[in-house]
Amino acid sequence: MAALLDTALTRLLGITHPVLLAPMGSAAGGRLAAAVTRAGGLGLVGSGYADAAAIRRERAEAGNTRVGVGLVTWALPDGPDALDEALAGRPAVVMLSFGDPVPWLPQVKAAGCLAMCQVQSVGQAVAAVQAGADIVIAQGRDAGGHGGTLRGTMSLVPAVVDAVGSVPVVAAGGIADGRGLAAALSLGAAGVLMGTRFAVSAESLWTGAMKQRVVGAGGDETRQTRVFDVVRGLGWPAEFPGRALRNGFADRWHGREAELAAARPQEEPAYMGTQPDDFATRVIWAGEGIDMIADIPTAAEIMDRLVAEAAATLRRGAALLR
Ligand SMILES: Cc1cc2nc3c(=O)[nH]c(=O)nc-3n(C[C@H](O)[C@H](O)[C@H](O)COP(=O)(O)O)c2cc1C
Repeated sequence: MAALLDTALTRLLGITHPVLLAPMGSAAGGRLAAAVTRAGGLGLVGSGYADAAAIRRERAEAGNTRVGVGLVTWALPDGPDALDEALAGRPAVVMLSFGDPVPWLPQVKAAGCLAMCQVQSVGQAVAAVQAGADIVIAQGRDAGGHGGTLRGTMSLVPAVVDAVGSVPVVAAGGIADGRGLAAALSLGAAGVLMGTRFAVSAESLWTGAMKQRVVGAGGDETRQTRVFDVVRGLGWPAEFPGRALRNGFADRWHGREAELAAARPQEEPAYMGTQPDDFATRVIWAGEGIDMIADIPTAAEIMDRLVAEAAATLRRGAALLR
């Protein structure tokens, strides 16, 4: 496997390509994480909402392949054994997202594990690095799934790069092909973390119908909304809505979250009672980059294309310098 793109991230993690799989609760099981690692990047398994059993299950699925583990920080107080479980497996890295990582970083560092924090602002990036984060993921609001509302990837990444000195910064949000990887490197990032593109892969836990629905959709159809969390009574802080495909359910309730919360006794069973492929109702988390997703390849095929296209894009850019 040729290492075309050598960065501070590939050196720190000992990987060939500067590409990380986002720890997506619903999509990034052990099989997909292992496939991304075998393809030269690093796969991270999701953990649901700080669920130790989910971590054990997906790590077993990954077999002997080296993977990392992602944890949803605001959920850790309700499931603190999830961090113990993650560290017991000696993961390549632990990633903390959505909430204050500072109380949890000492335990990760004391275990001798690399710590990666996903942040949505420059201030959060600086705080994470001061508390010991080894890698910062700068996540723009373009991202699929939950995220902040303030900053887009394009301006957040270079601002975080400037703010955190020599700590490697990884770009996340709306990156789905090699042009996005090349752009992230040009902004000073040491790599990318990709979710939606890998969710639409052969090895992802998503159903075939979900993958096909995203293949048929475009970024204009996505929106950040809280309605899918409100109807299910999930405890997501209001500052983290989730970017998903728009559908009839979201259009009906978006902007009326308090009313939806009050109507939960009727609305939650109705929502949960729909068929899993009733996409007029059910959520599909997806980032703005889905315009670039047109098929359902293996993770290895995605990686090959990404790296080849990024290298070609950077060479084309260099050729402009005459
Ligand atoms: C289906 C889906 C589920 C996600 N679940 C999680 C999660 O459980 N934990 C987490 O830290 N991030 C999660 N994310 C967000 C990712 O970490 C990442 O920021 C995002 O996927 C990057 O944007 P992209 O989807 O445009 O590549 C999820 C994203 C998607 C698309």
